[in-house]
Amino acid sequence: MLIDLFLPCAAGAEALLAEECKRVLGPKTRLLTARGGVTVEGDERAAMALNLESRLAQRVLWPLAHGAYRHEHDLYDIARGVRWSDWITAQQTLRVETTAQRSPLRSLNFATLRIKDAVCDAIRESSGERPSVDTRAPDLPLALHLTPTHATVYVDTSGEPLFKRGWRDARAAGRDVTGEAPLKETLAAAMLAAAGWQGRAGDGPLLDPCCGAGTIAIEAAQIACGIAPGLERRFGFERLAPWRDHASAWRTLREAAQARIHAPTVAIFAGDVSFRMTDFATRNAERAGVLSPAMKAIEFKTADALQRLPPAERGVLVLNPPYGERIGAKGRGAAPREDFEGGGTPASFFAELASHWKRHYAGWTAWVLSPEMRLPSLMRLKESQRVPMWNGPIECRLFRFDMVAGSARG
Ligand SMILES: C[S@@+](CC[C@H](N)C(=O)[O-])C[C@H]1O[C@@H](n2cnc3c(N)ncnc32)[C@H](O)[C@@H]1O
Repeated sequence: MLIDLFLPCAAGAEALLAEECKRVLGPKTRLLTARGGVTVEGDERAAMALNLESRLAQRVLWPLAHGAYRHEHDLYDIARGVRWSDWITAQQTLRVETTAQRSPLRSLNFATLRIKDAVCDAIRESSGERPSVDTRAPDLPLALHLTPTHATVYVDTSGEPLFKRGWRDARAAGRDVTGEAPLKETLAAAMLAAAGWQGRAGDGPLLDPCCGAGTIAIEAAQIACGIAPGLERRFGFERLAPWRDHASAWRTLREAAQARIHAPTVAIFAGDVSFRMTDFATRNAERAGVLSPAMKAIEFKTADALQRLPPAERGVLVLNPPYGERIGAKGRGAAPREDFEGGGTPASFFAELASHWKRHYAGWTAWVLSPEMRLPSLMRLKESQRVPMWNGPIECRLFRFDMVAGSARG
């Protein structure tokens, strides 16, 4: 059955996601780019393929009901229009997650409850019992999206959001070793896509000198090795009744993805000034399957970005440098707090980084993600591109600097 799947993504990454969907499903795929996501025409197989292969989508949502609303009870009526017995039994569990854009409703919690009530009432009427709620690992994950006038109820075929690739150490989360503000995998992938870096030999070596948990280098390495982002994880659709008939298509998709894995043809380098972070990133990369003897896709080194020499004559730097109250720049250029500009990283760090690049990195292209809109003037470099991207709620720019010998302004 063809349906309009909705794939939300980070604001700024919509056009890149549209291109990715065509790469995964074929160039004739019908799709529509909206703010915050892409609508893609597809079926159960397309939903599986996108879950397995998309690096940029946050989820793959399957629409079940849509309608105009003004009050919470309208949401109940919209949800009651679905034949829920096709999706859930009384013995199973559900979760409803609500997102809203300028919704007039006072309580989104109440909106969430009305959808849950609609499902539970429908199942109780048909079977005498009601399913229960499980917010952590439900059988049926539902997503409610509210615009100012319309509501859509989706099945979240991903379950856990897609930025969870399965390689991050869940136990690390509580122990302050997640990295200082690690990037989401989906945003790291969007940076690489915007840079046009696809892991081919012609794309040139890649270096992230401020790698933190290693997210950018690991995404890059998986791309270079042809490792599908979803190979190491499970998805919501695997527990859903309408996908039971598609188990063999799912096996075929996974086998094809597995067969595509190959040793990289391009070098990837990464490191951090902190040994603890370089070590942590190395362990993440091991779990992501890119450091096996057959792959050896990333070379890590603990080093100060302000002193590190280029590992190749030409290449691409991709990084989100330290910024903000929580993250201090360390190493040679780090300055006392009075020198901080704009509330975080010292301006001198960027000035020193730029002069280091001008001196040693001629021939390289740098892609730097930062919420600091004055980055080019702090670096005394003229950007050749400035791509709007959102890091969660934080508005950023991905700046491109071409390090041409003698081109520096200062
Ligand atoms: C915003 S975090 C990068 C996050 C990373 N992209 C990730 O996904 O985890 C910035 C990193 O820069 C590192 N750093 C700060 N000063 C540095 C320097 N002088 N040289 C190299 N790394 C530095 C910090 O230790 C921190 O891990």
